[in-house]
Amino acid sequence: MPGQKDPKTTMIYVNQRHPLYKTFRPLLFALPPEQAHALAIAVGKIAQCVPGVCSLLIRALAGKPHATLARRVAGVDFPAPIGLAAGLDKGAELLPIWKALGFGFAEIGTVTPLPQPGNPKPRSFRIVDEELALNRMGFNSEGAAVVAKRLKRRPKGLVVGGNIGKNKITPEERALDDYRLAYRAIAPEVDYVALNVSSPNTPGLRRLQAPELLMPLLTGMLRARQEMGLEGQPIFLKLAPDLAPEDLDSIVDTALASGISGLIATNTTLDRGIVKSEANRAKVMAWGDGGLSGRALKPKAQAMQRRILQRLNGRLPLIACGGISTPQDAQESLTMGASLAQVYTALIFQGPGLVAGIHEYLRSQQP
Ligand SMILES: Cc1cc2nc3c(=O)[nH]c(=O)nc-3n(C[C@H](O)[C@H](O)[C@H](O)COP(=O)(O)O)c2cc1C
Repeated sequence: MPGQKDPKTTMIYVNQRHPLYKTFRPLLFALPPEQAHALAIAVGKIAQCVPGVCSLLIRALAGKPHATLARRVAGVDFPAPIGLAAGLDKGAELLPIWKALGFGFAEIGTVTPLPQPGNPKPRSFRIVDEELALNRMGFNSEGAAVVAKRLKRRPKGLVVGGNIGKNKITPEERALDDYRLAYRAIAPEVDYVALNVSSPNTPGLRRLQAPELLMPLLTGMLRARQEMGLEGQPIFLKLAPDLAPEDLDSIVDTALASGISGLIATNTTLDRGIVKSEANRAKVMAWGDGGLSGRALKPKAQAMQRRILQRLNGRLPLIACGGISTPQDAQESLTMGASLAQVYTALIFQGPGLVAGIHEYLRSQQP
């Protein structure tokens, strides 16, 4: 339906196109979120091993890649502008599936240097009527060595980013050592690296965004990149949406001065004020700690992206993330000046066909 511009019709179009997810969603939503996630990963792992399934997915969901949507960002050629945000495929287990679904890129991780279990369960929650998720996973990770080994079998034709973080037990003053360890294992296997200093679920992690801690971290990582002979490979920094505007400005200035390649904004928010209904807010409060993501995060994430873009003034690229739930949201991000956009939570509620729907919409809006 290229040329279709009515937002409502486009949404219906996206949903109608994937009756399969309509069937699967009640089954998945009958399970607690983390079990549903594990089931989806297990089904995906089986599917990608069965010959013909990926090409079937491409035919059914992703359609032909739109060459006109391809773009070069920070020296990397992205076949399409919509990517998978970090956290859904922490272990790089489903790269052929992400490619088959039409993603231009997939960010795996967060990967920590050593394996760690993350926070106790339950640690993931959903609010269906607001398409909202709360998580405090706390970097459950198989560790950099295992994920790096798996990445060696990555498919061609999909840009892969490696999102790295620090282990929980590593003290703040040793954080750089952790990022460097994870970097050495992951960077040779990916197309870009994202430094996650913005998860709210690792105590103290977000303090690394303070310019006096951020500058040594960024310059230390750029040194690591040079030592590895990976100078051409971008390093992005992923930021939290809960920064005061003045702090955000100095972080952007620090990023610019450091020489890193770009920013990703945003991670999940600690702000419970984004939950629309009081009943849902009470539920969220009762669930406890964690970061919120999904539809309601968009205004907050977008306000931050606008400020970043203004400050960057074209000097570095921005990858927009946070609450992108419709083709129009994605287009808004790109029109605003973001170079690429990522989705996560909307996939849970709307199904994986969303990405092809977005790309098709973006294509239909091109002159
Ligand atoms: C269950 C869950 C786990 C996540 N894990 C990570 C992670 O490991 N690393 C990271 O940088 N972001 C993580 N995120 C944040 C997402 O990458 C994204 O920044 C955030 O959810 C906002 O986008 P969305 O509204 O499209 O979901 C996670 C999000 C969710 C919902």
